[in-house]
Amino acid sequence: MSKYECNHHMTGFLKELPKCEHHVHLEGTLGPDLLFPLAARNNVQLPSHFPKDVESLNKRYSEFTDLQDFLNFYYIGMSVLIQEQDFFDLAWAYFTKAHADGLHHAETFFDPQGHVERGVSIDVVVRGFERAAQQAEKELGISTRLIMCLLRHLPPKDGLATIESARPYYKAGTIHGLGLDSAEKPFPPHLFEECYKAVRDSFPEVGLTAHAGEEGGPEFITNSLDLLNVTRIDHGVNSFQDEDLLKRLAKNQTLLSLCPLSNVKLQVVKDVSELPIQKWLDFGVPFSINSDDPAYFGGYILDNYIMVHTRFGFDLKTWCKIAANGVNGSWISDARKKELL
Ligand code: ADE
Ligand code: ZN
Repeated sequence: MSKYECNHHMTGFLKELPKCEHHVHLEGTLGPDLLFPLAARNNVQLPSHFPKDVESLNKRYSEFTDLQDFLNFYYIGMSVLIQEQDFFDLAWAYFTKAHADGLHHAETFFDPQGHVERGVSIDVVVRGFERAAQQAEKELGISTRLIMCLLRHLPPKDGLATIESARPYYKAGTIHGLGLDSAEKPFPPHLFEECYKAVRDSFPEVGLTAHAGEEGGPEFITNSLDLLNVTRIDHGVNSFQDEDLLKRLAKNQTLLSLCPLSNVKLQVVKDVSELPIQKWLDFGVPFSINSDDPAYFGGYILDNYIMVHTRFGFDLKTWCKIAANGVNGSWISDARKKELL
């Protein structure tokens, strides 16, 4: 299947590139090896149909049929997270793994509604993640940004209440962005106009993004830009179907946060070689390469870079351009960008 080799030298080069991650769900870094011990530690009863051990759970993770099939496991998985220490342990494990992959900057998603609806307060969640992020900055030299996502399968008024509860964290600069995730097709962007407006009006400096064009068509992307005023698109795969949209993304240098291994595991494409990466390069649409839910999809950030190389075999100059686009599309100061480039 591999058209190009990613030899030792090339792997070293990809590791050394100044990589920035813009699309990783912290709850999606929870693998079976941590899930079962946390369930035991917190006395959480997993549903009777849930696989009983690491091996059978990993096997089930290799058989996702689509986004919803994955999400059903993702929400059960996060139910073992209860204490602030659980959230810290989870995020810290991610930062150390990503650091070993040569990551310099991490913009991480989290889903507070998936915890609050189980009786875990947003304060417990944010404090645990914030502590891990601070430690990552200090001990690993990774700059970090925390992006709160709203679950689009829940009512928009629930999203508004979540934004209200997060106000102190936006004010303090602990949370830096707003995103939108979960099942895409049944819940189009227009439903969340008021939520995005609430954050925009109160915190104009906060970064806005949304999952769009993963399973939904290019109109989900266009509507996210028009109605939610996002400046970034998560996934954006289906943008390739609309040339006017590609030109618009290029003109505004709107970053797509691409997740190659995720797209294969959730059957968005059969193989990474089918992703319209060359089209984005030809149109000048910037994209970054990300892991999405690495514990579920079988690879962290470097694995995603390596997979893209085995399918597209880019030269060093193209790889440097991809990495520079990732740095420039990050929600960081110009000074930090300079440090990374
Ligand atoms: N939540 C976690 N990963 C997701 C994805 N790839 N798409 C939508 N929602 C998600
Ligand atoms: Zn995602």
